[in-house]
Formats: sequence, structure tokens, C-alpha cells
Amino acid sequence: MKAPRFPGGFLRLAPMVASIGGLLLSMSITATSASAAADPVGVEQRVNALLAEMTLAEKIGQMSQRNASEAYELASLPERIRAGHVGAVLNQVDAAVVNELQRVAVEESRLGIPLLVGRDVIHGFKTVMPIPLGQAASWNPDVVRSGARVAAQEAAAAGITGTSAPMIDIARDARWGRIAESLGEDPFLAEVLAAAMVRGFQGDDLAATGTIAACAKHFAGYGASESGRDYATTNIPENELRNVYLRPFKSAIDAGVTTLMTSFSDLDGVPATASEFLLRQVLRDEWGFDGFVVSDWDSVRQLRIHGLTEDDRESAFEAAVAGVDMEMAGDAYSKHLAELIESGNISIDVVDTAVANILRAKFRLGLFENPYTDPEALPPVASDAALDTARKAARQSIVLLKKSVGTLPLAAADLESLAIIGPLADAPYEQLGTWIFDGDPRLSVTPLQAIRDSVGDTIDIRYVRAMENSRSRVSEAFDEAVSVAEGADAVVLFLGEESILSGEAHSRADIGLPGDQAELVRRIRETGKPVVAVILAGRPLTLTDIVEHVDALLFAWHPGTMGGPAIADILFGIESPSGKLPATFPKMVGQIPIYYNQKNTGKPPTPDTIIHIDDIDAHAPQLSTGMTAFHLDAGYTPLFPFGFGLSYTDFAYSDIRTSSEEIGMGGTVTISAELENTGSVAAEEVVQLYVRDLAGNVTRPVRELKGFKRVRVAPGERVTVAFELQTDDLAFYGRDMSLMAEPGAFHAWIGGNSDTDLRTAFRVVDGD
Ligand code: BGC
Repeated sequence: MKAPRFPGGFLRLAPMVASIGGLLLSMSITATSASAAADPVGVEQRVNALLAEMTLAEKIGQMSQRNASEAYELASLPERIRAGHVGAVLNQVDAAVVNELQRVAVEESRLGIPLLVGRDVIHGFKTVMPIPLGQAASWNPDVVRSGARVAAQEAAAAGITGTSAPMIDIARDARWGRIAESLGEDPFLAEVLAAAMVRGFQGDDLAATGTIAACAKHFAGYGASESGRDYATTNIPENELRNVYLRPFKSAIDAGVTTLMTSFSDLDGVPATASEFLLRQVLRDEWGFDGFVVSDWDSVRQLRIHGLTEDDRESAFEAAVAGVDMEMAGDAYSKHLAELIESGNISIDVVDTAVANILRAKFRLGLFENPYTDPEALPPVASDAALDTARKAARQSIVLLKKSVGTLPLAAADLESLAIIGPLADAPYEQLGTWIFDGDPRLSVTPLQAIRDSVGDTIDIRYVRAMENSRSRVSEAFDEAVSVAEGADAVVLFLGEESILSGEAHSRADIGLPGDQAELVRRIRETGKPVVAVILAGRPLTLTDIVEHVDALLFAWHPGTMGGPAIADILFGIESPSGKLPATFPKMVGQIPIYYNQKNTGKPPTPDTIIHIDDIDAHAPQLSTGMTAFHLDAGYTPLFPFGFGLSYTDFAYSDIRTSSEEIGMGGTVTISAELENTGSVAAEEVVQLYVRDLAGNVTRPVRELKGFKRVRVAPGERVTVAFELQTDDLAFYGRDMSLMAEPGAFHAWIGGNSDTDLRTAFRVVDGD
């Protein structure tokens, strides 16, 4: 074995053995020395020194990320790494194989540059947290941060150095399958949770054992795909882009995110992977990002398919010039960049900048000090602590959408028998949700198992699956389900979507409960028994008919490994539900896009200015209705608004006030309200602050979330909840696309969802 050629200072610890292509190889594991990685001046010097030694081929190698999961790719990787032609791999999670690839990179390549090892660790590695949209429903940055921390440790043990998460595309269209991976529709909530997730993955020290690089994706606008059809074109005016879609990315960068991934989508005629506007003007010039940008899977070569370029050479040119530092999975860079540089079409500065961005990340990750993973140095996967984190996350993500007196929590002492019915009661894989490459369904505890565990012999649990899966249109087992329901004291239905119905390339045009589930609900309703429905799904669903036919409704998203125990905790009242919707639930799909922070329009609807299609007088049809912005068949309100979620207790809000009616520009105002638990159980409530800027340089949304706090309140207790707002928090991008805070009148609301009517007002004035 050769010593690494580039300064690293390896301290040999333990030998490991790996096999690639049948060849047995041995290597050494090194100890971490984080100090060098944390010193920014030192990092820049090391980047420049290394860059000065590199050949063009080696530089282009650093800009290429290769798939290491396919046998044919893997077989040739050692040779390509040794030659310096590959600087990053993805999708290899065998620690021994990863360590061997790293060994080839650091000991056998000319400059000994370690590899980046990427993986989509989206909501957990082996221990799966709720889908990101579910985590967002917790409105709890600590939950999000700890979930990412667990994921980072488990992934790091496999040799992963970076994840392709968080996905922070604002999603206002529940038809889009990837809404499951998102943090919902609101830029403020996404800003807070994006930063939390980045901190969870990266920790305080990127070079420490058990932290991995985060990647904010997809830059930018992917969530606005037309009609929610994945990969479709987006049309986002620049002002909207800046005020809504870009905000979480800026927040992730401020939190120190290491990399950004470009979006597959086309924005205003230019696919994001070729957008100089996004990747240079906004990202580098305006925001000063110094991490690296990776393309999405083969999205460089897809520039040709989009119709932007004629061939891969031109695609390589467009992407490199726009600022894509690393190409994921494709070979446009490895085949064409050298010639593009040598022919003078691209300046070497473009390549040097890209390589510096990538090397900077490698130094910050401490890979030059320690390229290897030592699984023994990290907690075992699915440790008790990890499972506790997953259970807490799932518990706080569950949203109570409907309650009626006496139905929930289930009074275990009064129940002799309980019917558990539905395709998702005992589906270990389905509860994990989308995009879990490494999640292990054998670790899942299903609702059925957890309910059985919690009640022991005290309640007779009778289970009927009733449908093979959520899409099934075979209703043969419904009679059995009905007879089991008839014989039980209460029924809990487990309905929704299995995991394959959401996620990438899994968009739906109809977002109702699939298959014959609505019919199952109707049949069970006819038994007259108390019916609780628990929905497991990857997106908001249209549940208008279902809500009417159940006594209580819990929305549990895809809750992950510990979904079962979390649901049982809520059903039996161990904890009151406290999740709040991170996305609006429409009454019907035709209302989409529907989101709370819409613009007022010149003709805002009110209850008095709308008419329902069924109420139009057949004999004297009105030629003009209320002349406002509504649908004749759906009105203008959603089924459940953003921020909505009930509790087993009742909360009363009162006495909203501001610390002062006028604040000078640059000043601070405190807005507070009283919150009282008027029910009989202790519970947590997510208190929300919304603001409206009544007149702006560009029109402003009817409400914007500006703060939230999770508070625990005992029965009868009354607490004051206060939010501090600075005038900077009220800033927005104006007509000239600059960020501005303006004087003027504002309304502010505090409440338990975006539809609250507890309002106060203040004015921002010029001067102090
Ligand atoms: C997705 C990315 C993901 C990549 C690698 C793509 O299809 O859009 O989000 O990180 O695959 O798996």
C-alpha cells in the first residue's frame, strides 16, 4: 500500500477487509482530527494547494459522481478512482466496500483525494422517521433535528458522507407525489425546519464522527410542476420565486448546508440545471454560497431531452457554465469537459471554481484526516434511543382532524372488544412511506401489533384486513369486516395510501382514498358503532365524504418505523394529538392549487358573495353571482386549513395585543395572546402567529406565518404566548426584486390555525 500523496496524517487504527469483484483487500481505519477541517483559512490554503497539483483529467474526475450500486459500475470503479477519474460515488452502503473504495482513492490515486459517498437518506436510514411532510406536521424543529441526527449516525456507519436531503421544495399541490418528501406549503415553516434538518445531519462539526453533509434540493421551483405532474414544467414569476420558493434554500445556506442539488424542472424556459440566473446570480453573487452544486440524476444530459441543447457536449457546456459543479450519474462532463476547455469554449476558471467548491466540502468533512467509516464507533442501528426519537416524531406528527364527544381517546377500561379494520393496520412496509432505500420493514411496529401490545388481554382485538391494499376494488371481505364491527364495542379503521402512491414519479390526479375504501367506510358506518379512522398517506387527501361518516379522524401520514406505537399512544390517550397541517387539505381536487397565503385579488369572496351551484334558481338563473373569486361547486374555503389540528382538550385564545401600535423601521414589536386549556387533559398546542401587510410595493398574501411555538398547557392553566417581530421579519421582495421592509399598516393574528380570527393591528413608521 502506498502512503497518501496529499497531506493527511493518517493514524492507523484497525484493519478491515472488503471484497470488490471477488478480490479480497485490506485497509486501515484512521482517527478523526477535526481541527484542520474547521479552520476556514487553512481549508482555503489546502484547496488551492491541491488544485495547483491537479491535472485537467483529475479535476474533471472530481466533478463526476458515479453510481456504485450497479455491479457493472462497481467492477470498474476501483480502476477509475485510481486513475483520478471519479471523485464521488453514490448508492453504495456496504461499509466494507465503501472503505475499500476510499482506500483506493487515498492510497492508490496520484493525489490521494478521498471520495464523497452519497445516498438518499431522506427520512431515516434503517430507523425510519415519518415522511418529511409528517415531520413538518410536528411543527417542531427539535423533532426534525433529532430525526436527522439519528439518520446521519446510522448512515455514517455505512460509510455515507452526504445525504440528498432535505428536500425543501415548497409544495402547494397535493397531486404532486413528492409533496411527501417536502416540508409543506409554507415558506416560513420550511425555512425553520430546513435549517433544523441541516443542523441534524451536519451537527456542530461536519468533521465529527457521525455527521454527514446535507444537500438542499431541488434548486429551484420543482414543487410547482404543472398540475402536480412530476417533472413537468414550472411557471413561477421571479417575484413569486423569491418571496416563496427560494426562501427555504436561503435558510438552509444560512444553516451551513454543504451542497445544493438542481431541479429536474424547467423554469421560465431554462431547465434549472442550466440556469445561470439561479446558480450564479442568486446562489453565488447574491447569497455568497461556497459549497458545491450537484445536478440531479443525469439532469445534465437531460438538457438535450428538454430541448435546450442538441447533444451531450452542449449540455455539458450549459451546465458547467451555469454553475453545476458535479454531475450526478451521467457522463456528459467526463466525456466532453476536457475538449470544451482545450478548445477554449469554457474557461479553466469554471472548472477550477467547481473543483474548489467540491474540495472545500471534502476538507470540511474531515475526509482527508479520516476517509474511512468505523461502524463500531457509532451507535448500533435502530438503537433504543433511535426508536424513541422515531416514536416521538410520529406521535407529534399525527393530526386530529375530527373529534366527537366520547370517541377518542379510546376508553380502554370500558371496551371489551375493538375491531381493527383496513389495509394499513398491519402493513410494515407501507407505513414507512416513500423513498426509503435502506429502511427495514422488519423493524416496523405496526398499529395492529402496537395496539395488541398496549392492551394485552384486557380488550379482545378483532382484526380484518378487508382489502389486500388501498387500491383494491375487491370488496368480498367487506361482509366479514361488517360482522366483526357489529360484534365489537368500537371500530378503528386504518385507511389511506400505500407508500408507492406518493414520492417521485408517483403523482395522482385524483387524491381521494383510492380503491373501494370509501365504500368500506360507508359499510362500517351502517353498523352504528363508534368509528375512528386513522389515515396513513403520503399527501393531503380529499376526505370530504369520509369526514361525514366517521366519529373521529386522525391523519398519521406515513409514520415510519415506530408509527404503530405512536398511533397507539394517541388512540389510548397516553398523549393528546398535537400535530398541525403543514399543507391545506382541499375539499375537492379542482381547488388545487389551494394554499392559505394566497393573494387577496380585487374581488375577494365572503360567505355573502358566493352561491353554490345547487342553489342557482332554475327558473331565474342569476347571470351574475357574487362576482368574487370562488368556485360555484366548492366555494373558496378548504376542507381543513393550513395549521389546523385538534386536541383531546380544548384551547381558548383571547386578549391579543401588541406592545405598541407603532414601531419605527428597524424596531421590534411584541405580539401576544392568552391561551387557556379549557378542557380536562394536559396537552401541547402549536400557537401560530400570522401577519398581513395591508398595502405593499407588490401585493402581499392575505396572511403569512411569522412565528410558532409549541407549548404544553395543563387543564385550567392559562399562559401568555408572545412573539417578537422585527421590521426585517416583515420584509419581502418588491417590484425591483430587492428585499424591502416598508412602512404601513399590518394586521396580526394569533391562534391554533391559519383561519383564526383573533386579530390586532400595528403600524410601521419611518424613523425610530
Ligand atoms: C431525485 C433526487 C435524488 C436522486 C438520487 C433523483 O431521481 O430527483 O431527489 O436525490 O434521484 O437518488
